[in-house]
Amino acid sequence: MLKKENAENLMQKIVSLAKRRGLVFPSSEIYGGFGAVYDYGSYGVELVNNIKSTWWKAMVQKNENIVGLDSSIFMHPKIWEASGHVSGFSDPLAECKECHFRARVDHILEEIEVFADEKMNEEEINKLLVENKKKVKCPKCGKSNFSEAKKFNLLVQSNLGNFTGDWNENPSYLRGETCQGIYVNFKNVLDSTRAKIPFGIAQIGKAFRNEITARQFIFRKREFEQMEMQMFVHPEKALEVYESWRERRWQYYLDLGIKKENLKWHKHENLVFYAKAAWDIEYKFPFGFKELEGIHARGDYDLTQHSKFSGKDLSYQDPKTNEKYTPNVVETSVGVDRIFLAILTESYTEEKLKDGSERVVMKFPKKLAPIKVAVFPLLKNKPELVIKAKEIFAKLSDQYMCEFDDNGNIGKRYRRQDEIGTPYCVTVDFNSLEDGNVTVRDRNTMKQERISIKDLDKFLEKKFF
Ligand code: GAP
Repeated sequence: MLKKENAENLMQKIVSLAKRRGLVFPSSEIYGGFGAVYDYGSYGVELVNNIKSTWWKAMVQKNENIVGLDSSIFMHPKIWEASGHVSGFSDPLAECKECHFRARVDHILEEIEVFADEKMNEEEINKLLVENKKKVKCPKCGKSNFSEAKKFNLLVQSNLGNFTGDWNENPSYLRGETCQGIYVNFKNVLDSTRAKIPFGIAQIGKAFRNEITARQFIFRKREFEQMEMQMFVHPEKALEVYESWRERRWQYYLDLGIKKENLKWHKHENLVFYAKAAWDIEYKFPFGFKELEGIHARGDYDLTQHSKFSGKDLSYQDPKTNEKYTPNVVETSVGVDRIFLAILTESYTEEKLKDGSERVVMKFPKKLAPIKVAVFPLLKNKPELVIKAKEIFAKLSDQYMCEFDDNGNIGKRYRRQDEIGTPYCVTVDFNSLEDGNVTVRDRNTMKQERISIKDLDKFLEKKFF
């Protein structure tokens, strides 16, 4: 792990670049912000879309037995009773009596290397808190004076469809995870696609949690986006399928361009009663190794619960053997925002150049880069250069996300593109008008080469595919 000071420094640099360069903005900033909610700017939304499309390709496109789904954020409130969220989806919260900062008790204990178990009740957590009373410090004011811990439910409640004026009457919820939409559509997908077990349903969508602490930038948001895949399998095959997905999800991150040494497995030792196995893939964020993705063998809990609460039979009959059973679920679940932050961390590079100057460059994997090619006319007040550069932009933008930039000198334009991680910059100069060649500059090596305009397509194709 980076030293605390360096880690904070790196985090600050990433947060500041993300804002300055239109990757991530704090939500509602002109109103002073809104805790743990963020907006993606013009380059951020490109990066988000690119992350989502690599996941969709790996999970849906490349698997003949996985299909996609887009279920709603709002669902029948009973779903959240069946899933256990209404009664048990909570984190322990305590308030600093000095500065009124609200902290997650498991997190402040973690800081002093005391680890609370997810299954602990209020009494057990409070015992830990009291035992470590003097050592536990408020992350805001540094004092050791906390109130008793209380379990706080994370589900975000709404009054959708409730016209009584009483907020608490028949509450509905913004979904706390996307997979519940998958379970309740299990039969629909089965009937409409003629899928046979084993098969999977994948979904990307927003989820909402009333997270107690708003820390670590986009790592823990209250509105975030999940990419979840639920594989429905025969109970006897569950662990085998589970192991194969562990391997495949690990490989996904390597294929994305994340270095192996920045990834780590974390095994959950204290499983919830229905789970058969649970591992996280952790990434080395500036603040240490933390959960990136969870891979879970959930047994038949989900379909059994929804059968019980809905009264509908969600079992499966094997068409060949006629065996009837409730499928087990193997789940892979990751937040888009966590991959986004991992990619920012992985790509952020400061370099000292030969001339003594420094540059900051986001070495995004090419397939994730928000802008693939930037096109510049050398001078903005020379119409012949501008026309040629616009022609090139029009041609390349058919295939790639491009940016046209004629502001400032070329050096400044390169620096700007470096900071948003654009792999290639194409410059049209006066020679281009004579010999039909342009300068292509490589983000990583900063090498420049002359390429004929008519060969640009082929040149870039080799670089990107
Ligand atoms: N369906 C299982 C499930 O939701 P989880 O461990 O609570 O499991 C899965 O969440 C993934 O969702 C996490 O590994 C993380 O990538 C992402 N995630 C969870 N809470 C998040 C939050 N508050 N902000 C951003 N991402 C979050």
